[in-house]
Amino acid sequence: MKAKAKLLRIGVFVCHCGINIGGVVDVPSVVKYASRLPNVVHAEENLYTCSEEALSRIKEAIKEKKLNRVVVAACTPRTHEPLFRVTCQEAGLNPYLFEFVNIREHCSWVHMHQPEAATAKAKSLVRMGVARAQLLEPQVESEVEVEAQALVIGGGISGMHAALNLANQGFQVYLVEKEAELGGMLRKLYRLLPDGVEASKILKPSVEAVKASEKIKIFTSSKIKSIEGYVGNFNVTVISLETGEETRFKVGTIIVATGAVEKEPTQLYGYGEYENVITQLQLEGLLKEGKIPPAKKIVMIQCVGARESTGTTYCGRICCVEALKNALILKELNPKVEIYILHRDIRTYGRYEEYYQKAYTAQIHHLRFPEEKPPEVSQLPDKKLRVKVRDDLQGRDYTIDCDLLVLSPPLVQHSEGEEVARMLRVPLGQDRFFLEAHAKLRPIDLATDGIFVCGTAHGPKGIPESVAQAYAAASHAAILMASKVLRTEAITAVIDQNICIGCGVCEIACPYGAAQLSNVDGRWVSSVNEALCKGCGVCASSCPALAITMRHYKNEQVLAQIREAFPKVPEEKFEPRILAFTCNWCSYAGADLAGVSRMQYPPNVRIIKLMCSGRVDPFFIFEAFRNGADGILISGCHPGDCHYISGNRWTEARFEELRRMVKEVGLEPERLRLEWVSASEGEKFAKTISSMVEDLRKLGPSPLREVKRVEADPN
Ligand code: FES
Repeated sequence: MKAKAKLLRIGVFVCHCGINIGGVVDVPSVVKYASRLPNVVHAEENLYTCSEEALSRIKEAIKEKKLNRVVVAACTPRTHEPLFRVTCQEAGLNPYLFEFVNIREHCSWVHMHQPEAATAKAKSLVRMGVARAQLLEPQVESEVEVEAQALVIGGGISGMHAALNLANQGFQVYLVEKEAELGGMLRKLYRLLPDGVEASKILKPSVEAVKASEKIKIFTSSKIKSIEGYVGNFNVTVISLETGEETRFKVGTIIVATGAVEKEPTQLYGYGEYENVITQLQLEGLLKEGKIPPAKKIVMIQCVGARESTGTTYCGRICCVEALKNALILKELNPKVEIYILHRDIRTYGRYEEYYQKAYTAQIHHLRFPEEKPPEVSQLPDKKLRVKVRDDLQGRDYTIDCDLLVLSPPLVQHSEGEEVARMLRVPLGQDRFFLEAHAKLRPIDLATDGIFVCGTAHGPKGIPESVAQAYAAASHAAILMASKVLRTEAITAVIDQNICIGCGVCEIACPYGAAQLSNVDGRWVSSVNEALCKGCGVCASSCPALAITMRHYKNEQVLAQIREAFPKVPEEKFEPRILAFTCNWCSYAGADLAGVSRMQYPPNVRIIKLMCSGRVDPFFIFEAFRNGADGILISGCHPGDCHYISGNRWTEARFEELRRMVKEVGLEPERLRLEWVSASEGEKFAKTISSMVEDLRKLGPSPLREVKRVEADPN
């Protein structure tokens, strides 16, 4: 006999958030509206739904009213969702039966001067939330055992200190270094910032401590051959570059400390052509060996191959202080030497400003050249170098004949780092450094659980910051390993092998190698390793057989939101309706930032959050048009920044095809738009919505609006 379906009993809690929501949105009217929505048996307003008192009210209501779904309409899920999920759990409700509706960042804060429109939008958002809540299902986070051993890749200063920190906490550590000796770039440096201590005085005790630790197994002249598995259970193979011998072991966590290299300034300012043109790192080497050539005049050029319009666009961050430090050392060795630092601007952050002051006192000359007119370098017959430069501040041209030219290029990623990233299936940013999972909230976690980053593998930084980051990475790894058992994400893909046609598209699409084809009883079908799956949903939106379901982001759940996004009653006056699909990590956060910054944009948009822009199924687009959208925005992280490595590549690849299909059904392709919006681009999000509204006003209502579907609205 079929089990009787449990009746839905939804509770809706609408927050005033003091005056943040209640000062704009008519909260009592939203509550009244919510109370009339299907299956809502309880609706109430709270001054602060996140307060202790209100959380107790939610728990009481779950018990007293027998609620089996909870919807909270308040602020952003990015900060408060865990709190409400725990509250539901404490009252005996599965935390995945909770739905969060954002009526602050996406409503009251961005439509502050349109209270009526903001209230109407809040009602729509609650309606969408309730529709989704009806289809939510309980989810179980599975448990995996965690191996209490760690792998540290890279034996530089950050790798060594991460390894030491973990070893001191009692964890077994495998430290793999490609060079024959530990120390990384520190071995090439002379004196260190901020106090001028000799690099060897830091390096030697660190190396000795690592070598003395019984808990650290060191592999020098070695590299990682392969890494397979997932958080808590990574199978690692290390190969010796000298003997070819392979060693295999299992670890629970991985710390990437692969470092960076100085960018080679090939063909810039005579580098590689004139022997007296060197880099700051080469200068450090000469200083260290006491081989500095006698020189009367030395010129240093900053931002060499950095802050370019394409390529290395970023600031090298430590090059300015590095140049000032070396200039001061050169002055100390020979007070008569004349030193010129040519720069676009000097960037000495924090306490390093004192180096700048010292350099001025030591009469080191600073000339500021314009970006569009960099210095020119030529060689004189006596092998000296002639540097011509325009000083912007004085509005004067200088010609300096010098004995030595020192270039300051930035640090860049190296090929080994790229190889490690590929092996670990973790993303690199646009700057090619390892990309953290979240710039603010998870700054040392990589996108794959159990893998952390520290030091210059993550971007240019000095030794104090690298070591601090190493301790942070070690602490995060230790927390995981100490817990012994780990709960994995419940949002994963599930493949129905009865429907699967064995095409293998999901295997190609999955950035983590979680979906794999195998032969089951003579038939090729795909299956998902849930411990590897991160829940981006790219496989589900790529599957031609619709065999893949995303837990907590099932097609039906998203479609329910789409169908309730816009009122089914015709309007008196045309107002463009926009549905925006944003990814959880960047563009939803960008929309949040627009709210936090109180950027005002038209109230015509309804946002649906998916884990990744790659989850946007073509089906969603057409269902949205069919249900009254005049325009659709797909928004995700910038290319290279997707938190699922390559999810947005699929979005990009699919977009033109989608536009073509939109045209085929008789719509203007401009009604569908793709915009990359990062978490820091609140303004871009606001401007995108404003410009879409303008464009859609010109285009008029979508011909696909279902004018016949006139139904009574509970408003
Ligand atoms: Fe933002 Fe993939 S997570 S586009």
